[in-house]
Amino acid sequence: MPCRPEDHPTESADSNSRSPRSIEQRLVRTPQLVELHEDLWDIVDSNLQDGDKAKGAIAVDAFPGLGKTTSVLAFARAFHRREIAEQGEFTAQGNERVPVCRVGLTGNTGMKDLNRAMLEFFGHPGRNRGTTAQLGQRALDCVLSCEVRLLALDDLHFLKWRRTNGIEVSNHLKWIANEFPVTLLMAGVGLADKGLFSEGGTKGDAVMAQTGRRTTRLGMRPFTIETEKNRREWRQMLRALEKRVVLADKHDGMLTDDLSDYLFARSTGHIGSLMTLINRGCQRAVRSGEETLSQDLLDGVKNDEASEKARQELEAALEKRRLTSRPQTTRRKSA
Ligand SMILES: Nc1ncnc2c1ncn2[C@@H]1O[C@H](COP(=O)(O)OP(=O)(O)O)[C@@H](O)[C@H]1O
Ligand SMILES: [Mg+2]
Repeated sequence: MPCRPEDHPTESADSNSRSPRSIEQRLVRTPQLVELHEDLWDIVDSNLQDGDKAKGAIAVDAFPGLGKTTSVLAFARAFHRREIAEQGEFTAQGNERVPVCRVGLTGNTGMKDLNRAMLEFFGHPGRNRGTTAQLGQRALDCVLSCEVRLLALDDLHFLKWRRTNGIEVSNHLKWIANEFPVTLLMAGVGLADKGLFSEGGTKGDAVMAQTGRRTTRLGMRPFTIETEKNRREWRQMLRALEKRVVLADKHDGMLTDDLSDYLFARSTGHIGSLMTLINRGCQRAVRSGEETLSQDLLDGVKNDEASEKARQELEAALEKRRLTSRPQTTRRKSA
């Protein structure tokens, strides 16, 4: 069975090189990521124990830019490696073992497109012909032959929910959950609003209720600065980034002390916006020869629209010292 080769980011670029980094080098083990992984290991591993029973599904449901895709991929990678290490590269039948099948959905994907995308993942020659059911059967065949254990569907909100009130989608997901011996791991934005977990009420909800019963919803939160613990988490995040930044004139505390409030205001605690800002700031610092990050430099860097909107209010509060992003211990030190 031809299977798509996995990405194995094994190159070990030295930490001072500016060459593009592997996924693992870029990844920060944020508290959000660690918490999500704990829950995922619980559910996925208890599903493995369950044998043939229909397995519980997982929905990672949170706003864009909070690290869903990144965390799910990191988990998928860890799970893939563990399974291969424990069970070997090939199944008892001699097929290539593929513990994880991952599909990213694009705008307005229908059921047929979803089945086709799974076949695409496996490089199946029959991916371009056939009915929805036939494509689905082929996908099931691949999943069984390669002993897939985890099926990750990213950006599930792109599925066509509207026309049929989501029942078609729900039925399809139920079919996958019942027939495929996998843990279904879905990620997307506003899945609860789309009725993925609804429990009765309008017509056709008996179908939805069943999906809801079997699906565990996991969220991802932004960084906040409300409690001392929150502020410490934010500082640790900045410290991790500071270590990763490669600029000739960077100094200790460049992000954690000098820019903590500023970066929080500009990203509103969203990791995606923070990474974009730092990344663009570093490009500019290199290009201009400043080789360090400062408020002046970052002021010239554009960020995403949502962050810019929320920024003004936060900046005002931070300036008046009604809010701070820094833990008490570090405030005292620098006072
Ligand atoms: N744990 C992390 N470590 C490093 N970068 C991260 C992490 N989580 C998210 N990011 C960065 O934030 C951006 C948005 O994350 P992403 O996973 O695409 O969010 P979502 O899928 O929730 O929209 C990505 O570009 C990624 O580089
Ligand atoms: Mg995503």
